[in-house]
Amino acid sequence: MMDIVTIQHLKKFFKDGPQIVKALDGIDLSIEKGKFTVIVGASGSGKTTLLNMIAGLYQPTEGNVIVDGVDLSQMKEEQLTVFRRRKIGFVFQGYNLIPELTIKENIIFPLALDDTRPDTAYFSNLVHLLGLCHYLDAYPYMLSGGAQQCAAIARALITKPSIVLADEPTGSFDIKTTQNVAGLLKMTAATFHQTLVVITHNLDLAQLADRIVRLQDGKIV
Ligand SMILES: Nc1ncnc2c1ncn2[C@@H]1O[C@H](COP(=O)(O)OP(=O)(O)OP(=O)(O)O)[C@@H](O)[C@H]1O
Ligand SMILES: [Mg+2]
Repeated sequence: MMDIVTIQHLKKFFKDGPQIVKALDGIDLSIEKGKFTVIVGASGSGKTTLLNMIAGLYQPTEGNVIVDGVDLSQMKEEQLTVFRRRKIGFVFQGYNLIPELTIKENIIFPLALDDTRPDTAYFSNLVHLLGLCHYLDAYPYMLSGGAQQCAAIARALITKPSIVLADEPTGSFDIKTTQNVAGLLKMTAATFHQTLVVITHNLDLAQLADRIVRLQDGKIV
């Protein structure tokens, strides 16, 4: 047993004019390597903030976020950029594919940023698992929402990240697409030994998790 993420007494406050918003208000959480964790909670409960903190996108107001043994607050901005690129795969809400690039170009885009060539066997494996083989030369608008989301997942996984973070990856899908995408995320995480942390309102997806973390007003309940 090994924890890949350790969060200690974490607080994240935002200034909203004269007011202070306590987005995270004392979080202690350990995430075991290789497990599938789902984060649930009402709108505004702090879910996205928590995911962004694990990705090192925000500095804590108080407390620590330790990923793979490294305290993120000890890293400089350039180190954090490299850390995110190499260790974290982010699946955004609403896919965020680049419309001018083909599906293949979209998927390998994160590697180009790092001047790395794709591992062709891994690439083939990934697009096969995600059912994208026939869409590689197509542009995002030609694909269904479900297939675009699969491309976004492939793009998040192409760098072989040890942690995959996904914010409402099945957003507005129908039940069948949701189950497909959820199953694929879980399967790719298992195949490539990744730790998966997913925000969702979707009960079908939550049911597949090893653990459900519930947030309320910036606290775990
Ligand atoms: N960059 C920011 N600046 C100011 N306030 C913020 C910022 N990010 C989040 N907040 C506030 O922090 C609280 C938690 O926001 P967060 O986005 O983490 O909630 P959430 O659980 O993801 O909600 P949703 O389900 O609607 O996506 C909210 O009150 C939000 O308005
Ligand atoms: Mg959110």
